[in-house]
Amino acid sequence: MSSNTVSDKPNAINKLSGNMPNGAHTAVDVVLDTAYQGIDQNGWSQLFETARKAKLSEFISDMFAGKHINQSENRPALHSALRNLSKSPVLLDGKDVMPDITDVWRRIEALCNKWVGVTDVIHIGIGGSDFGPRLSIEALAHVPDIDSRGMRMHFLANIDTAELARILARALPHSTRVVIVSKSFTTLETTMNAKAIVAWLKASGCTKSQINKALFAVTANVTGAKEFGIEEDHIFPFWDWVGGRYSVWSAVGLPIALQYGFKTFEEFLAGAHAMDLHFKNAPLESNLPVIMALALLYQQEKHDIKAYAAIPYADALDWFPKWLQQLDMESNGKSVGKDGKPAKHSSPVVFGSAGSNAQHSYFQLFHQGPEIIPIDFIAVRKPMSDRPEAEAHHRILLSNCLAQAQALAHGKVDSNPNNVYPGKRPSSLLLLPELNAFYLGALLALYENRTAALGALWNINSFDQPGVEYGKVLAKPIEKALASGSDHVAADDSVDAITAARINFLNS
Ligand code: F6P
Repeated sequence: MSSNTVSDKPNAINKLSGNMPNGAHTAVDVVLDTAYQGIDQNGWSQLFETARKAKLSEFISDMFAGKHINQSENRPALHSALRNLSKSPVLLDGKDVMPDITDVWRRIEALCNKWVGVTDVIHIGIGGSDFGPRLSIEALAHVPDIDSRGMRMHFLANIDTAELARILARALPHSTRVVIVSKSFTTLETTMNAKAIVAWLKASGCTKSQINKALFAVTANVTGAKEFGIEEDHIFPFWDWVGGRYSVWSAVGLPIALQYGFKTFEEFLAGAHAMDLHFKNAPLESNLPVIMALALLYQQEKHDIKAYAAIPYADALDWFPKWLQQLDMESNGKSVGKDGKPAKHSSPVVFGSAGSNAQHSYFQLFHQGPEIIPIDFIAVRKPMSDRPEAEAHHRILLSNCLAQAQALAHGKVDSNPNNVYPGKRPSSLLLLPELNAFYLGALLALYENRTAALGALWNINSFDQPGVEYGKVLAKPIEKALASGSDHVAADDSVDAITAARINFLNS
């Protein structure tokens, strides 16, 4: 591949000072350097040929055009419309979805201007209704000059009451607002946690009208939210054509706007929109999400890799790998293709955490373990604090990031087998010019589009998640058996002998 620059950010200020590394690509000022993937010119040509055979360009067009690419649920995957700041019509079965989306933007902006004297926001939601906003709130808190309203933002996801107890020990009930986020509005963790919060507000002396004033919902099930008792003008809708893990761009991202202002939320959407334009329009050979997807496919074909890691050298992005885990593994962790036949490849296990901390944890295995684990190193050019030490520390952070990639690629010979580094361990470097709402949006959309591209290459539907349902069904009779308190529960159709023994032990 030759060096190639594609900037789809409208009126982009060119943040790319200096010469890009040979063979690197850029979009929206994000640089992708795949030089350590070990893929030669011929390898790339074959990969792009594979992409053409898989009709990847057609898939991308279909996705943006609102075709029903989520076949099992007979829906489109139109999350890109949620960040379509151009407001150009996006037709879903002949109807433009943009007026409904812009109406929600207007309501979010109005709400941002309305909240005064709020000390605490409790965001209740799990999975896709949690990771995106939680990651964004955390990440943007590190932007040195960000304009923050300074509310305490609490994220309540787990049914484990530890999280609930921690939040309630800090929140001030009379100045708390609660945002219940659930696409289905039936998720048990979320509805039970919401009931617990309402009970806490009541027990803290809030009147019914104060509670009504405090409660908000974000959902695709408006009826469910109303039945829960949320006032209609406190319900922010989104739609069934937005997958939960792709939903941070909808009102699910409300905390971002409430804490950092609507303008920041718009910048977040703008970064994602710019990355969408790139994904939609750039040729395969210079298309960042496509190149990243093909690099992973190459490592699957060549080394049969079963895991890959995403290591952001940015503490602000510590939540990024968790967000990515749901994105990749819930989207593509499937054994059956769209044609109902066994899929040749599927999502590898994804893991990671912030560098340089991660180096002091599992990097030993990266360097000398028997498995090859490709890595996405994600670095930010500008330091993420305005501390006087920032420049010096940041240099060390970056040098560690670069050194790890080099050590992994080349390895080291030594007469002592214990000190041999085999090398040839593939990695990519993604470099953001700085971490702000715009580039955070661009980064998340880059990975969303890469996940979709991988699904297309593997012939997997990336937009359903049937595999998460069975365990939820089985939990019901088990909960009933635990509630019975009996230590003589017998195995039956829904509880097998092993689980019955565990229930009996817990109940004894
Ligand atoms: O159980 C998995 C899942 O359905 C995810 O796909 C989703 O992000 C999460 O649960 C939460 O769902 P909801 O937003 O409907 O509460």
